Amino acid sequence: MRTTTNHAETFRSIPTHATPLSDTKLTSLLDQEWSQFKDNTRASGEESKSAALVIPLGVPSSFQYWEPYPISIKSAQGAWMTDVDGRRLLDLSMGFGAMLVGHLNPAVVEEIKGTLEIGTLFVTPSPISRDAAERLCRRFAIDQVRFANSGTEATMYATRLARAVTGKDAVVKVEGGYHGSYDPLTVSAKPSLDKAGPADNPTPVHSAGAISGDVFVVPYNDLVALERTFKENSSKIACFIVEPVLENLGIVLPDAGYLEGVRNRFDFR
Ligand SMILES: Cc1ncc(COP(=O)(O)O)c(C=O)c1O
Repeated sequence: MRTTTNHAETFRSIPTHATPLSDTKLTSLLDQEWSQFKDNTRASGEESKSAALVIPLGVPSSFQYWEPYPISIKSAQGAWMTDVDGRRLLDLSMGFGAMLVGHLNPAVVEEIKGTLEIGTLFVTPSPISRDAAERLCRRFAIDQVRFANSGTEATMYATRLARAVTGKDAVVKVEGGYHGSYDPLTVSAKPSLDKAGPADNPTPVHSAGAISGDVFVVPYNDLVALERTFKENSSKIACFIVEPVLENLGIVLPDAGYLEGVRNRFDFR
């Protein structure tokens, strides 16, 4: 049983003991839930079928697909979304944080409307990007920002920058960590258990079609494994990439001292 202490800034509580649910009970409960889901989401099912004719899996990004089909959203306001079946759903994801201030927040809507009146794409610098950068730097106490169109692009540039600065190529990433679709960062994003190897020393599982190069995979919340990987491979490693809170496997919070240990290990500042 793990005895790890919670991180002071999170709400993780680890039970001291647990009784596993019976598989039969679990299967029957899940069958009931999925049957109810299908009854309540017929229009999403139809929408998914039509979309799959013109979009792979019927989704704009593959991770949005799940069995039997994802819910399709018609509109949203504030913290609430309306799906194509007319159900009102509380949005607990908020675009993974991108919709931090809520859907159709009036301040954002006003800014966007204003932008439509002055032009949207100049392909040369504009005071509007300088202004946005200044606000972000002030707000998060950082020196500079580079804008990117997607998370994939941002993590790709970060990796490339680390490789250029260090003159090394290998990447260390966390098993189950998700950073978008740049080849090395897709390694072990959600490996199947039969390929994943031991929990304390995971086997890197590469995705089909990706040319990943050298990628070392470490377990989350494990400073010992991180240290070992760096000791054994420091001549090859360009960077370590980690989500502060692992989000791809459900929400997995950092243990006390983990993120601090990572920062201290690399002495970033
Ligand atoms: C932590 C993290 N990094 C990168 C990405 C990739 O972002 P995008 O889908 O915009 O390429 C995501 C997307 O969910 C993410 O959660």
